Amino acid sequence: MEESLSLSLSLSCPLSLLSFFFLFTLSILSPISNAQLSQNYYTTSCPNVESLVRSAVSLKVQQSMAAGPGTLRLFFHDCFIRGCDASVLLTSSTGDDENHSGADLTLSPDAVDTIKKAKEAVEGDPQCSNKVSCADVLALAARDVVSLTGGPYYKVELGRLDGKVSTRAAVKYGLPGPSFNLDQLNALFSANGLTQTDMIALSGAHTIGISHCDKFIRRIYQFKDPMPYNPPINLTFLRQLRQTCPMSYQQSSFVNLDPISPFKFDNAYYQNLQRQMGLLASDQVLFADRRSRGTVNLFATNQTAFEEAFVAAITKLGKVGVKTGSDGEIRRVCTAVN
Ligand code: HEM
Ligand SMILES: *[C@@H]1O[C@H](CO)[C@@H](O)[C@H](O)[C@H]1NC(C)=O
Ligand SMILES: *[C@@H]1O[C@H](CO)[C@@H](O)[C@H](O)[C@H]1NC(C)=O
Ligand SMILES: *[C@@H]1O[C@H](CO)[C@@H](O)[C@H](O)[C@H]1NC(C)=O
Repeated sequence: MEESLSLSLSLSCPLSLLSFFFLFTLSILSPISNAQLSQNYYTTSCPNVESLVRSAVSLKVQQSMAAGPGTLRLFFHDCFIRGCDASVLLTSSTGDDENHSGADLTLSPDAVDTIKKAKEAVEGDPQCSNKVSCADVLALAARDVVSLTGGPYYKVELGRLDGKVSTRAAVKYGLPGPSFNLDQLNALFSANGLTQTDMIALSGAHTIGISHCDKFIRRIYQFKDPMPYNPPINLTFLRQLRQTCPMSYQQSSFVNLDPISPFKFDNAYYQNLQRQMGLLASDQVLFADRRSRGTVNLFATNQTAFEEAFVAAITKLGKVGVKTGSDGEIRRVCTAVN
């Protein structure tokens, strides 16, 4: 779209050659790829891909509580680092890969196993072998997690290729931190082509899953170096959090991101924010900051509005940095390039 816009500009006004190059460059760097994804991408090459992935995900989610939320988070991290190209799944023998970038990532081994199982199921179908990318398997698996936990079912656009590169360094500035304020959240999401409304809707993914104590410990105790900004927190909720996460908390201790309905994909996340029960500062800030509060209130009172916004936003997320050319491939095994 941006390319055609810049083209028509340059045709209608020859003097705008400079702006042509400017916009053209922008469109090349544009995070939301113009690459053609389609809902019917595998209709002839692997007609059963959706049911193969769904069965594998469904089984794994029954076996492990961590698999579902972990898989949804994996998709988000994949798309924000080098685009939705399954680079998050690559492991390097030297340890220089996204997975080894430190505590920020805390990839769930169960999530990685979910994608492994789903990919194996696809490869096991003779018609599908070597046809379906890990990036697409991950996008489908994320959708299945959302709908299997009670969220909306939506059509997934397909046709991504798998990337060939994964480095630790790429993760450093690519992911949001739990202490981000609204400006920081907006800046990072907007760099990925997503609006504030998209960001608020996608944060609703925190209606399932957990957070370890270290991600919010500075929020619940007064340390010598307080957070620059700590949005208000419900006193009852605070007492509960201090019980699970004492100042000398254990590394493995964790709390549900949504204390009300932690296993259900619903809009309780936003209702929690209205009661100052957002776990991470980056959650509660969405209600604390007047610029985003209206959207939080809308999603808290209207589940349909939330679901529609979530589907629109995760569909957009699924287009970030998509590879369709020679910079990609169909990986045989998701943890290694071919
Ligand atoms: C808006 C900025 C975001 C921040 C700052 C953020 C941060 C975090 C943090 C710190 C955790 C806890 C990790 C741990 O302690 O193990 C977490 C968990 C999670 N995040 Fe986010 N996140 C954000 C957006 C998203 C988005 C866009 C999605 C997906 C669409 C997502 C999905 C999840 C899920 C499902 C979990 C639970 C993981 C589990 O139970 O294993 N998050 N997030
Ligand atoms: C990522 O690292 C963790 C911890 O080092 C490990 O358990 C997991 O298997 C790794 N993931 C992949 C895809 O290899
Ligand atoms: C704190 O949480 C309780 C229980 O959910 C709720 O009744 C109360 O209104 C909340 N307080 C504030 C200030 O939101
Ligand atoms: C809730 O949101 C949906 C979708 O935006 C809209 O059609 C509906 O009218 C809203 N419901 C209410 C009660 O406002």
